[in-house]
Amino acid sequence: MADNSATASQVPPELNTNVPQTARIWNYWLGGKDNFPVDRQVGDQILQAFPAIVENARASRAFLARAVRYLAADAGVRQFLDIGTGLPTANNTHQVAQSVAPECRIVYVDNDPIVLTHARALLTSTPEGATAYIDVDLRDPDTILQQAARTLDVTQPIAIMLMGILGHIADDEQAQSIVERLVGGVPSGSYLTMNDGTDTSQEVIEAARIWNQSANPTYHLRSPDRIARFFDGLELVEPGVVSPPRWRPEPSPSGLPAEIDSACGVGRKP
Ligand SMILES: C[S@@+](CC[C@H](N)C(=O)[O-])C[C@H]1O[C@@H](n2cnc3c(N)ncnc32)[C@H](O)[C@@H]1O
Repeated sequence: MADNSATASQVPPELNTNVPQTARIWNYWLGGKDNFPVDRQVGDQILQAFPAIVENARASRAFLARAVRYLAADAGVRQFLDIGTGLPTANNTHQVAQSVAPECRIVYVDNDPIVLTHARALLTSTPEGATAYIDVDLRDPDTILQQAARTLDVTQPIAIMLMGILGHIADDEQAQSIVERLVGGVPSGSYLTMNDGTDTSQEVIEAARIWNQSANPTYHLRSPDRIARFFDGLELVEPGVVSPPRWRPEPSPSGLPAEIDSACGVGRKP
C-alpha cells in the first residue's frame, strides 16, 4: 500500500510570494507553472547573465533520472531518500525507480511550503511500493533519518539523494557534517547521489551573485574537487565525479556531451 499519510493532507501554509524562492525559480527554468512574478523576475535576470541555466536545470534533472535508473536497475536499490525534492516535474524519483521495480519505497524531504502544498503529486506510489513526504530542514539530518524510518527499512540499503541542495548550505563544515551524519545513518551497501553547481565559469559566478542578492535561500558554488570530497570514504561508481551530462550518458555518435557548470556523482557505502 502507498503510505500517503504524510503531511501533504494538512492545510497549505501561507506562501511568501514577495521573496523569490529556490524551488519556484528552478520550476520556472524547467518550464513549470508553479512560480510567481518575483520568481520569474530573478529567474530572467539570471538567465540574462547565464543563458546556460536552462540547459543546466534540464541536464541536472536528466542526471537524476539516469542515476535513479542505475541505482534501481543495476545496483538493486529499493529505497530512496530524496532530500531537496523540489516541485513535482517529469520523471520524479518514485516514477523512475518504480518503473524499474514497483516495490521501491521513496521518502521525499523539503522545507519549502510550496513543495509541501504540491506533495500530493509525489505520493502516487505503485500499490507494491510506498512514497512519503516529510517537511524537514536538511540542517536537521537526525530528524530526517528518524522520520524516514517510518517508511524505509533502515537495515536495508538506502540511496540518499542531495540534488541541487547542498549549495544552499554556505558553511563547508556544516555541509560536510550533514553528509557524514546522513551517510553514517544508513547501512553498508547504501548510496550517496549528489549534484551541485560549480564555480567553473564567470557567468555562473555572476548568476550566483545575482541569486544571492534577492533569492531565498542563498546558493554557494563549490569547486568540482570540493564536491568530490563529499564522497570521501565511499566507492565512487564509474565515471566518478563529473559534469552531469557526462555521467553515463546515452551513447551518441557525436561523442561526449558538453559539460555544464555542475558536478555530480554516485558513491556506494562499503
Ligand atoms: C534547486 S532545487 C532542486 C530540486 C530537485 N532536487 C532537482 O534536482 O531538480 C533545491 C530544492 O532544495 C530545497 N531546499 C533548499 N534548502 C533546503 C533545506 N535547508 N532543507 C530542505 N530543503 C531545502 C528547496 O526548497 C528546493 O526545493
